[in-house]
Amino acid sequence: MTTILIPELSAHWDEPDSFRLAGYRRDGGYQALRKALAMAPDEVIQALKDSALRGRGGAGFPTGVKWGFIPQGDGKPHYLVVNADESEPGACKDMPTLLNNPQALIEGMIIACYAIRAKLAFIYVRGEVLHVIRRLQLAVSEAYQAGYLGENILGSGLNLDIVVHAGAGAYICGEETALLDSLEGFRGQPRLKPPFPAVAGLYACPTVVNNVESIATVPYILRYGPAEFARFGTEKSKGFGLFSLSGHVTTPGQYEAPLGTTLRELLGLAGGIRNGNRLKFWTPGGSSTPLFTDQHLDVPLDYESVAAAGSMLGTRSIQLFDETTCPVRVVLRWAEFYRHESCGKCTPCREGSWWVVQLLDRLERGAGSEGDLDKLLDICDNITGRAFCALGDSIQPSVASSIKYFRDEYIEHLRIGGCPFDPAASTLFALESAR
Ligand SMILES: Cc1cc2nc3c(=O)[nH]c(=O)nc-3n(C[C@H](O)[C@H](O)[C@H](O)COP(=O)(O)O)c2cc1C
Repeated sequence: MTTILIPELSAHWDEPDSFRLAGYRRDGGYQALRKALAMAPDEVIQALKDSALRGRGGAGFPTGVKWGFIPQGDGKPHYLVVNADESEPGACKDMPTLLNNPQALIEGMIIACYAIRAKLAFIYVRGEVLHVIRRLQLAVSEAYQAGYLGENILGSGLNLDIVVHAGAGAYICGEETALLDSLEGFRGQPRLKPPFPAVAGLYACPTVVNNVESIATVPYILRYGPAEFARFGTEKSKGFGLFSLSGHVTTPGQYEAPLGTTLRELLGLAGGIRNGNRLKFWTPGGSSTPLFTDQHLDVPLDYESVAAAGSMLGTRSIQLFDETTCPVRVVLRWAEFYRHESCGKCTPCREGSWWVVQLLDRLERGAGSEGDLDKLLDICDNITGRAFCALGDSIQPSVASSIKYFRDEYIEHLRIGGCPFDPAASTLFALESAR
């Protein structure tokens, strides 16, 4: 394990034309595509399998294996859909990637489509980020003009079109089957699985849905070889990725590092906790993953080690909170997000998220009772595993872990009949208290 950053996707973000085709080509952009087109499609899939790249959208499913599920010779159209919805609290790696390096995604998409034999691909991007959408549209049009998209790409006989599709800003549309429904023009709600998208996805045809970072990493793997990628990381979590540090940290931002890097190492690069304060709690993978505390600074941030320590690596959305922060209030805010974003299709998530907010709100105001804590955990237990999709499963982890680590602070709210934290003292809630 090394502490050295691996700026690959983020290598040129500080250059004024990093988002233009010329800027991308200056450092060897589109060399990987030429290499891929000289290989057989199945060899490209094998290269992805050899790299052991695991999907960067949260679940960590091996990308090459997913591509290998697409049936061949079935006579049906195949599709690639890039999931650029990125809407979870704390998740903020895909939008900067698209803003600064959209050509890496497009090159990765062309390689992926060649491998899975798709002639049409979509980028489903959340609708609120107009500046990102404009950059993507520019990048796609530059790729068409240069002959990387359209007919007979680089004289290889490969035809491919890419459509940039803006969603309407619903977190549920990041769930891959809700995304497909939305793309087809329906209300975005999750589908029953199986069948999985690889069998019946977009327009009931075989479809690969991949995260932005997963696909944008593909050119590196083809250009330098799968072994070079697999050289980084840990035994089962190979390669490198973007760690997004936000919250009470001196220098928030994207830190591209090998999987297995620890938060202590990342904080060393990010100037530590703001104002010299103490780290109180943090999320390793966004608001849907169990909290960690300062006891977990040395947990290697790879899938296995984070799971063994009781949380999930998720999207490496590391939100940091110092000692001025009320954990009950933070967890309440996240629960409100899930309640608001619950699509309403299944009862456990629709009703459960509402009850979780009611109880947390009461506790945060110091108006509940200690029995509410058990009720809260019981409701969470009844949502997890019973919801139609993983949105429902995202509610419980922060609630249960906050009670595990900060039960005494919940009780303190009840004892004094209010929140013991001065919202004005917390920079996190400064805006809220100013209102
Ligand atoms: C409610 C919900 C929201 C999600 N949002 C995203 C998202 O914004 N981006 C993403 O890549 N995956 C998201 N996912 C995971 C996707 O369903 C899917 O696993 C992922 O796009 C697969 O890509 P990967 O294999 O490259 O990681 C979400 C899942 C759920 C349940």
